[in-house]
Formats: sequence, C-alpha cells, structure tokens
Amino acid sequence: MQPFRKLAPFIRPYWIQAILGPLLMVLEVSMDLTQPRLLERIVDVGIAQLDMQLVLRTGGLMVALAFLGALGGVGNTVLAVIVSQSFSADLRSALFRQVQSLSFGNLDELDTGQLVTRLTNDVTQLGQLVLILLRIMVRAPLMLVGSLIMAIVTSPTLAGLLFVLIPILAATLIVVMRRAYPLFLKVQQRLDRLNTILQEYLAGVRVVKAFVRAGHETARFSAANDALRDQTIQVLRLMAGVLPVMMLAVNAGLVGSVWFGGLKVMEGSMQAGQLIAFINYLMRALGEVAMVAMLLVQVSRAQASAERVVEVLDSTARVQDRPQAAAPSSLCGRVCFENVSFEYETQEKPVLRDVSFTAEPGTTVAVLGATGSGKSTLVHLIPRFYDVTTGRVTIDGVDVRDLPQEALRRRVGIALQDAILFSGSIRENIRYGRPEAGDDEVEAAARAAQAHDFIQSLPQGYDTPLGQRGVNLSGGQKQRIAIARALLLHPVILILDDSTSAVDATTESKIQAALHAWMHQRTCFVIAQRISTVLDADKILVLDEGRLAAQGTHAELMAGSPVYREIYTSQLGEGALPGPAQPGEERHA
Ligand SMILES: Nc1ncnc2c1ncn2[C@@H]1O[C@H](COP(=O)(O)OP(=O)(O)O)[C@@H](O)[C@H]1O
Ligand SMILES: [Mg+2]
Repeated sequence: MQPFRKLAPFIRPYWIQAILGPLLMVLEVSMDLTQPRLLERIVDVGIAQLDMQLVLRTGGLMVALAFLGALGGVGNTVLAVIVSQSFSADLRSALFRQVQSLSFGNLDELDTGQLVTRLTNDVTQLGQLVLILLRIMVRAPLMLVGSLIMAIVTSPTLAGLLFVLIPILAATLIVVMRRAYPLFLKVQQRLDRLNTILQEYLAGVRVVKAFVRAGHETARFSAANDALRDQTIQVLRLMAGVLPVMMLAVNAGLVGSVWFGGLKVMEGSMQAGQLIAFINYLMRALGEVAMVAMLLVQVSRAQASAERVVEVLDSTARVQDRPQAAAPSSLCGRVCFENVSFEYETQEKPVLRDVSFTAEPGTTVAVLGATGSGKSTLVHLIPRFYDVTTGRVTIDGVDVRDLPQEALRRRVGIALQDAILFSGSIRENIRYGRPEAGDDEVEAAARAAQAHDFIQSLPQGYDTPLGQRGVNLSGGQKQRIAIARALLLHPVILILDDSTSAVDATTESKIQAALHAWMHQRTCFVIAQRISTVLDADKILVLDEGRLAAQGTHAELMAGSPVYREIYTSQLGEGALPGPAQPGEERHA
C-alpha cells in the first residue's frame, strides 16, 4: 500500500469531484435497494388482491426511482472519469518533469524502454484504478451491506444462505488474487523487456540492415514477444477461474433460495413476492462481491505500476545543487582538476585516477588518448554531468559543486560526442541553448563552425527542417551544427568532444582557425583522435587508462612522453618523427 500512499497527492486537487462522485453513488444504490421491496408489494399486494391501481402506482414509483438512481449513476461516472483522467495527466507531467531533473548517472540506470512504459502503460493502469475506485468504493460496501440488511428484513431464515455463500466466495477470490499479484508483476517486466528491445531496434535499424541481422533481431523480438504472451496467458488463465466461481456461487444461491423459499411459500409461511425480493437482494449482494473482486484485480495490477512509477518519482538527482550554491557574477574560465578520481556507479574500477592539471583562460587544451581512456568522462565533470568521486574540479578557484548546475551549464558550451539534433529547422537547432539569439548571431556561429556554406546551399537555408520530415544531414554536417549550437552560447568554457571526427581535415583546420578568434579569452577543450588536430594546442593532456600519462605542449611531449611519441608515430609514421628531441624545440608536422 506504500506506493499508493505516495500517489494520493495527485488526487488531492480534484477532491471535490472525488467526494461528490461517490456521494452520487449513494443515490443510485439507495434507489436500487428499494426496487425489490416495491416489486414484492406489486406481487404480494397488487397482483394477489388484483388491485390494478396499486400495481400501476407502485410500477410508476419504481420507474421514477430508477430514473433518479440513473441520474446518480451518470453523474458518478462523469465525475470519476474527470478525476481519473486529470490524475493520469498530472502524473504523466510529474514523471516527465522528474525525468528532466535527473542527472546523467540516473539516466544510465533507468533505460529508455522502461521509462516509456512507466509514463504510458503504468500511468494508464493507475488511472484505471482511480476510475474503478471512485465507481465502486462507495457502491460496493453500501450495496453489499444494504442488500444483506434488506435480505434479512425480507426473510431472516433465508438470509442464512448469504452468510455461508459470501465468505466462501470471498475466500476463493482472495486466494486467486494472492497468486495473481506476482504474475501481474512479471507481465509488466516482460512488457518492459519488449519495449526496450523495440526501442533499441528502432534506434539501430540501419545497423541491423547493414549487417543483415534481421533474422537475429526478429528472433530476439519474438522471444520477448512470446514471453509476454505466455506470461499474460498464464495470469489470465488463473483469472479465468474467477468468473465461473462467481457464477457457481450465484447459481447455488439461486437454487438454494428457490428450494428453501419454495418450500416456505408452499407451507404458507412466506409469500411469492417476498421470495422474489429476496432473490433480488441475493443477486445484488453476490454481484457486489464480484465487483470487489474486479477492484482487487485492478489493485494488484496497479500495485506493480505504482511501485514502478513511485520509483521514478522517488529517485533523487545524483548531482544536486548545494543550498549555498550561488551563481558567479563573472567567470574567466580557469579550469583546475585537483587529484580527481572518478568511478561510475555501475562499474567497479575507477575510470579516472588522480588527474591534476590547470587550463588557463584563453588557452586551448587538447585531450588525447585511446578510446575508453576516459576523455569524455573527464570533460563531463566540468559541467557536472557527473560529480567527482574524490578530488575536486574548480573554475576560477570555485569548486564546481558549489555552483548551481543551470548557471554553470549556461557558461559551458559543449558539443557532445554524439551530435544529437532535434526535429525543427536548422536555425532552431543552432538556437537551442539561446532561443532569443538573433539571426545574425546564428549565422556568425554557423560561419565559425564552417556550417554556413552548406546551410546556404540548402533550398530553404537556415529554415530547412531537419528530422523525420526534413532533410537528413551527413555526420560531419550534423557535427558542425552541434558546434555552432555550442558556440552560440558564447560560453566561457567550450568543450568539443570529438566533434570533428566526421569532418574532413581541411574543414577541421578552418574550424580550428575560426575558433581561435571566436574563443578569444575563453577556455577551450578539444578532444580529438587525430593528432594533427591537437598540435597547436597550448596544452595537450595524454590520457592512458584513466591516468594522466603526460601533459605539455607538443614539443614538450615529443621530448618527454613515450606514450605521446608512440601515438604520434603511429598516426603520422616514422618519417614524421623529428630527430633526437631537443628540449624546448618547436617542431610541428
Ligand atoms: N555512462 C557510463 N556508465 C558506465 N561506464 C561508462 C559510462 N560512460 C563511459 N563508461 C566507461 O568509462 C570508460 C571511459 O569512457 P569514455 O570517457 O567515454 O572514454 P573516451 O571518451 O576516452 O573514449 C570506458 O571504459 C567506458 O566503458
Ligand atoms: Mg569519448
């Protein structure tokens, strides 16, 4: 019940409808409960004494009361629908906002497939529960108790039948529900798995085609699909017993009352109308037990959903703003790593070990190293995508953990390793970080990123739509737009994470040259695979399995770092190697 309690606040704004709805149900139930007694009057008094007048009057009353009851029923349904739909919409928004507030670390753990199920299917289940709850929360107990009382009033002896049947029925249902709950949980997990596979497939469908692995993917999908089917069949098979058991109880009750009641009527100790009324109450009482069973099914399905939704709502962002964090008035961009080590929560061994260096304002720092050596991880610590495990990262002497994330990220422009663009025009994409930027600024950023020329050559220029309905850009073109997007922030610190890997060498050096002018008095981090990209950097950091193997200018590293010399020769060949290195000698390839 714990997870449900956490979701209760989402109903609170609609408390008026949530109370009014069930109250209208009281009207429907009470009108409903009078019907059998009136029927009894028609049979035992009206028909028995051939009083047509009474039959008509009582019949008219029954219709009027039924109409009133129906009004209550309609009102209840309308209000219940409003509450359950509003609840669902609010919950979805809250989840969406929550996902947005999470850090990279949280997102590593909650995979996309799961998040999609949680925001759609799970929320729908919970909305369904709220609907049923508001429909029968008041109705079922009221109708059950009301029918029992009326049955006793109608015929105390026959009522004993109900006191035997209802506990048997209820016990059966409880046993079934207890077994069904873990199965429903499994159904949900299988659905998750299916969604994850589907998402992965859709994201990588081109790779699947390129490697002719459709058969493999189909098998993977089918396995998950079959698992979902089998699990669902298993739980529904269990549930299939519920309805027949219900019917059995109802029929047993019917036969029992006709049998005993019939004898009594023949004896003359009971009237026929009385028996009819009793049977009516019996049906209503057992029917309500069935409704409660349905509610329990819904509760057990929704419990799994509630847990999964609450898990998202309860997850706290790994990276938090400290209460005393204050936005800096201005930054020059001196970035300092002091004995920084970093470990991903999901991995045992550290990815960065004891890294220390300083990046002076106005300089370009290049990060070089094999894939997996920790280059991306290193730069992700600057805008606090992750917080360091030990040591500290400072900007102008202030620990980044003492800066509010938003203020920090507005000053750090980053072109991530994967250039992800959104659907929308090229202009909107470049403007993403500063929607208020003018067209001239957008163009200037695009020029610096060497994107202006190809954008101009597109039929609609900067207004060319990207994505599903628009043009598809080449990898290098996307990268250049991503660079322009980062530049437009006019960041104090610019980070390009392998952002020119798909750009040709000539264009790349043009970008480098443009950045020099653009990044005047700003700090620039450039991660690159090509050594030619980093030769001119003011400082080169050489990462080797998370350790800073060496740092310095190209000349210094050629002289002092075997790792650097090895990378250099492997890329540019032995011929490019300068003679016996002279300390301080400047020699560029
Ligand atoms: N989100 C993550 N969760 C867990 N491990 C990660 C994550 N990102 C990267 N790693 C691991 O950290 C190491 C360094 O990765 P990364 O910084 O991306 O290297 P590089 O950018 O130099 O190729 C790799 O071993 C990689 O497997
Ligand atoms: Mg990387």
